[in-house]
Amino acid sequence: MDELKETDGKHLFQNYSRQEICFSHGKGEALYGLDGREYIDLVAGIAVNSLGHAHPAMTAAVCDQSSRLVHVSNLYLIKEQAELAETLARIAPGDLERSLFVNSGAEANEAAMKLAVRRSGRCKVVTVEGSFHGRTCAALKATGQTKYQEGFEALMSDFAVHVPLNDVDALNEAVDKDTAALLLEPILGEGGVRPCSEEFLRAARDICDDRGALLIVDEVQTGMGRTGEWFGFQHYGVQPDVVTMAKGLGGGFPIGCMMSSDDLSKALPPGTHGTTFGGGPLACAAASAVVRTIEEDGLVARAASLGAEAMKSLQQLEGEYLKEVRGKGLMIGLDMPGHAKALQARALEEGFLVNVCADSVVRLVPPLIVSQSSLQKFTDIVKGYLDEI
Ligand SMILES: Cc1ncc(COP(=O)(O)O)c(C=O)c1O
Repeated sequence: MDELKETDGKHLFQNYSRQEICFSHGKGEALYGLDGREYIDLVAGIAVNSLGHAHPAMTAAVCDQSSRLVHVSNLYLIKEQAELAETLARIAPGDLERSLFVNSGAEANEAAMKLAVRRSGRCKVVTVEGSFHGRTCAALKATGQTKYQEGFEALMSDFAVHVPLNDVDALNEAVDKDTAALLLEPILGEGGVRPCSEEFLRAARDICDDRGALLIVDEVQTGMGRTGEWFGFQHYGVQPDVVTMAKGLGGGFPIGCMMSSDDLSKALPPGTHGTTFGGGPLACAAASAVVRTIEEDGLVARAASLGAEAMKSLQQLEGEYLKEVRGKGLMIGLDMPGHAKALQARALEEGFLVNVCADSVVRLVPPLIVSQSSLQKFTDIVKGYLDEI
C-alpha cells in the first residue's frame, strides 16, 4: 500500500481526494481490498455498477464481444449500437425513440444542450441551484454549484441561469423566449439527494410548452432503474423532450446516451455532432447485457420495494442528528450535518462503503442486486452510531 501511495502521489494528477483503500476484485455486492478484507459496496462506483461486480452476464458479454470486435468507427453501421438503441426505445416511454451514444454523463448533457440550441437558435439554458451536470465546459456552466466552476470562468460562456429547486415562481420568471432548454435532475444527486417536487416538475413541463423550450431531464444518476422506475421522471407523470443517461447504463463500462423523439433528432443532421468512441461495439454489448439482466431479473421493481423498505427503517432513526432520510428506490440520502463523515468512517470500520455528498449527506447508491440483509446491517450501523452520540 505504501508503494502504491507513493506512485500515485508522484505520477498522478492529485485532483481527487482518495480514501486509502485499493481493491483487487469484486463479486456481487462486495469488493475485496488488497489486504483481503471484504467491503459491502453501497457506492457502486457512484451509481454505476448496476449489476454489482463481476456479474456473469456482463462478464460474458464483454469477453465475447472483445474477442470479436472492440472498436469500429461511426463511419460504419454498428449492429451492437442499433440493438441497444432499439432496446432503449422500447423501455423509454412516449416518443423517446432515438439514441445518440457518447462516453459519459457530461458528454450526454453537452449533446442535449447542443441539440436544444441548434434546434431553436436560442442561447439560454435554465437549470437548478445545487444541480450537477458534469465537468466539461457547457455541462460545468449548467451545473448549479459555483465551487466546481471556480478558476474556469474563462472557458465558460454566460448561457446558463440557475433557479432555486422547487421554486415555481422563479422558474416561471427564468424561462423566457430566449430559453433553448430547461435541464433538470429529477433528484439532485451530487446536490445531496434532493428530489424535485411534483409541482415543480409538472410546472416545468407546462412552462417549457408555453415558451417553446425543451425539457431535458438528466437521468445520468437516477436512470436505469435506480429509483424504482427505469427513469426518475416516471415517478412524476411528466414526459421530457430529451433524456440523458450514463452511469448505470453500462454497469461500469463507460457509455452515455441522449434520447429524443425522431422529430427533435433532426436538429443534429450528419456532421453536426459526433464522437470517435461513442457507441462502440464493446460498450454497447456491455450495456445491452446490463439492460437485459435488469429486465429479466426484475431489478427495477426490486429497487422500488427494497429501497422503500430500507428508507422506512432509516426514517425511523430520524431525529436530532439524522435530520432527514430522502430519495427514491435505491438512491437514498441521510442528511446529517456535522456527522456524515464520521458515519462514513464508522461504516468503513464495519466493512461498508458509503459516499458523502453536499458535505452533510451520506449517499447510498448500491448495486441494484444489493441484498436486503446488507441494507439492514447498514441501518443497524446507523442506529449504533446515533445511539452512541
Ligand atoms: C446528474 C449527473 N449528471 C451528469 C454527471 C456527469 O457524468 P460524468 O461524470 O459521467 O461525466 C453526473 C456525475 O456525477 C451526474 O450525477
